[in-house]
Amino acid sequence: MADIVFGAALSHTPQLHTPPEQWALRIAADERNPKHHFRGATYTWPELLALRAPEQLARFLSVSAKTERLQRASAAVQSVAERYRQARPDVAVIIGNDQHELFVEDVMPAMTIYWGAEIENRPARVDQAERMPVGIHLAESGHAPPQPLLHPGQPELGLHLIRHAIADGFDVAQSQWMREADQKISFSTGIPHAFGFIYRNVMDDAVIPNVPVILNTFYPPNQPTARRCYEFGKSLGRAIRAWNSDARVAVFGSGGLSHFVIDEDFDQAFLRAIVDGDTQYLTGIDERLLQAGTSECKNWIAAAGVLEGSGLRAELVDQVACYRSEGGTGTGTGFVCWR
Ligand SMILES: [Fe+2]
Repeated sequence: MADIVFGAALSHTPQLHTPPEQWALRIAADERNPKHHFRGATYTWPELLALRAPEQLARFLSVSAKTERLQRASAAVQSVAERYRQARPDVAVIIGNDQHELFVEDVMPAMTIYWGAEIENRPARVDQAERMPVGIHLAESGHAPPQPLLHPGQPELGLHLIRHAIADGFDVAQSQWMREADQKISFSTGIPHAFGFIYRNVMDDAVIPNVPVILNTFYPPNQPTARRCYEFGKSLGRAIRAWNSDARVAVFGSGGLSHFVIDEDFDQAFLRAIVDGDTQYLTGIDERLLQAGTSECKNWIAAAGVLEGSGLRAELVDQVACYRSEGGTGTGTGFVCWR
């Protein structure tokens, strides 16, 4: 039977591949955003600035302060990659979300298992890059290679996971290939960035056969709840352990933590629950807190479900709040490994 030998959950923000001098580029988008999610409510930009003024976040916005945080977060990614190499897995199951890269509003499945033999990861075409919001294409190297690459899927495990999920009460969508970008879609470059980030930064483009599991954490109205994600993760874990194979399996959760408005208290409590395996906390998080980028924490919750019962122990690698503005926008980053 297959053996889960490693787990990791990590943030995948474009900020990690943007020079600190240019983090402020995204503030223009912050100013235009009429709905900043923070602590269960939404705020306009002026409201957010007023709300967070007492925290004096400007102290985190000097180039030297941002550089220090970027270096710490990058070191944490490297540390995850080193632990991954030490575990020597030969198959991976990666839980991530799609951000209008594969799915748009014609059909948006809540949960998808990709079981194709090939996974394309490629840079944006010129016309796509031109349509991207400012500051996004700049960070492309964080998730897409300079030249298109075809990575191996793991169809046998993918099919096994789909059959097991359906039998276990999870009516997942399935996918075997990724369509060419639609003109209306800015970002479609094959596999979504949640997965490309793992391929590039943890696997160094030496991608092992893997099954992407795509959760719609981001887009209302059919986001699976935190509890559902955890239960789905547990089901996936049972399926992996029942797979008739001697494979050494790695499990990833990609995304989070709080963003695009950082809430360090939320991140700290969330990380503690992940490391302690506090199922009650993880499945009870108010859905209003898990919106926008913070919704990606559901990829971690599902991964924690997979890893429950694996016998591996979680360890915190680091938590680094990467602020880009006085309104507290940026990305709360976190890094955890299970060994
Ligand atoms: Fe993301």
